[in-house]
Amino acid sequence: MQVIETTRALQARADRARTAGRRIALVPTMGALHAGHFTLISEARKRADPVFVSIFVNPTQFNEASDFDQYPRVLEDDLARCREAGVDAVFAPPVAELYPDGATTWVDVEGLTEPLCGASRPGHFRGVTTVVAKLLVAARPHVAVFGEKDFQQLAVVRRMARDLGFDVEIVGVPTVREPDGLALSSRNEHLGPEARGQATALVRALDAAEQAAAEGERDRDRLLAGVREVLAGAPLAEIDYAELRDAETLELAPAGLAGPTVLALAVRFPARHGGDPVRLIDNRVILRPGTKAVAEARKEER
Ligand code: PAJ
Repeated sequence: MQVIETTRALQARADRARTAGRRIALVPTMGALHAGHFTLISEARKRADPVFVSIFVNPTQFNEASDFDQYPRVLEDDLARCREAGVDAVFAPPVAELYPDGATTWVDVEGLTEPLCGASRPGHFRGVTTVVAKLLVAARPHVAVFGEKDFQQLAVVRRMARDLGFDVEIVGVPTVREPDGLALSSRNEHLGPEARGQATALVRALDAAEQAAAEGERDRDRLLAGVREVLAGAPLAEIDYAELRDAETLELAPAGLAGPTVLALAVRFPARHGGDPVRLIDNRVILRPGTKAVAEARKEER
């Protein structure tokens, strides 16, 4: 496995693969790799050879300098595990490689980036799209793989790739979870035992809403009241947002749900050792186009 630190060297590696008629996949990450990331890597492997993984803690997508400073950095472990997973090359550039002195160019997707995490974390998505654009330029992939856990990020990256004409297929991979349903995240380890126990409230709220929608509930506010009730059962949870939105445009869902709808949650829990609160996100598409509610289908069967 090659470890590459410069854009030029990665481009050269990509050009060799392309000349040989190979299909390249890129899995962008910030490192501290867990089973969620390795699921993305396996998906990339099914679709392409070579597979490139980028490991870069991107300073421009953090709102707080302290959050950037405290982000876990375990490059040697990550490299060993990538090697075991059969990754062909890891791109791990220093900050100055992707942000050369005096860099003033940004990629900013409007609209889609305003609600949800964009509202709670101003400038976050501008940092994400800017770095993903740079990574696509460096790796020249045919396919780039992202997690559905970051639902809005996936939508924003898809829009950016389309709007800028990147010749790349953006693939989304379902969220990988702990046995009790908590979505894997490098942030989970900052939860104390009590908060960790209560953190399953997110997935339980998603399950409840999905179940209600499957039984025919279409009233947005009743669904959200059910979600808030489940979250209220976790007294340490502080809701940042709990919203139903159009799964494609991310516009607010109408009072009576009709089209594809995503339930998106962001919830803060106190950190162990009294550090900054831990913000967890999760989501579920609770209505898909053409999904017939289970209850309606049952009625028709009778
Ligand atoms: P990071 O948080 O390291 O996540 C890298 C990729 O792993 C993202 O596509 C994310 O959605 C996916 N991922 C994280 N947890 C997951 C889980 N439990 N199941 C499935 N996929 C999961 O997201 C970023 O880095 C950055 O914003 C990045 C895109 C690399 C740009 O800097």
